[in-house]
Amino acid sequence: MQPEQNGTYCLGSDRDAVCGDIEYLREVAVGEARVMVRALGASDGLAAVTVINTAAEWYAEFLPASEVNEPEMTLDSWAEEARRMTWYGAFEGGELVAVMGLEYAGDAALLRHAYVLPDRQRQGIASMLHQRLERQVHGVDRIIVGTYTTNYKARQALEKAGYRPSPDPEAVLRHYYDIPEDRLQSSLTYEKHLDRDR
Ligand SMILES: CC(C)(COP(=O)(O)OP(=O)(O)OC[C@H]1O[C@@H](n2cnc3c(N)ncnc32)[C@H](O)[C@@H]1OP(=O)(O)O)[C@@H](O)C(=O)NCCC(=O)NCCS
Repeated sequence: MQPEQNGTYCLGSDRDAVCGDIEYLREVAVGEARVMVRALGASDGLAAVTVINTAAEWYAEFLPASEVNEPEMTLDSWAEEARRMTWYGAFEGGELVAVMGLEYAGDAALLRHAYVLPDRQRQGIASMLHQRLERQVHGVDRIIVGTYTTNYKARQALEKAGYRPSPDPEAVLRHYYDIPEDRLQSSLTYEKHLDRDR
């Protein structure tokens, strides 16, 4: 794989456009695969929502039908989220296989929207993305991740990555997140405190 170059991206158009730097993180080994992680730009949107909506099909296995969104995310809402957060993607052989978002909210960084394609799950990709995005975090020492209370895959992945349940998840969700009430009631948060100077 050729080394990638840093560059810029823009989401939206005209006066609504949001532009930023694409920072390519280095290629890393995940098991036997070589995975490239980089920030995503507007041209990655369709691939990203495909990953999200494919991985989110699993929600139907534990959420009441009334709480399942189909699709989980539209291209418009993906671009809207990009106005607040930086989307990162993991690529294998040029194919986007996983996404995760990093958002700053006051005194904390939120890791959001972790989705790995089903046939690439359980291979360490989410663990690798957690580690890489944690290293990107600067200026705050608290990282928060929200998930469904019944999402045992996410909860076990977070526990394994060193996150611990928030003592008062509802207060955290109300303070740091803007999500519908039904989703808030069926969610909880995990946290990790970084112990290095940033
Ligand atoms: C949750 C998710 C992102 C984890 O991604 P992943 O790349 O499969 O995770 P990893 O391979 O890094 O696994 C890390 C740990 O998570 C736990 N885990 C992951 N998948 C699991 C599963 N199906 N069953 C039980 N534990 C699981 C395990 O502890 C695992 O460590 P191990 O394989 O050494 O036992 C992925 O399952 C996914 O995309 N799920 C659908 C969308 C979703 O629920 N997103 C979370 C939103 S917060």
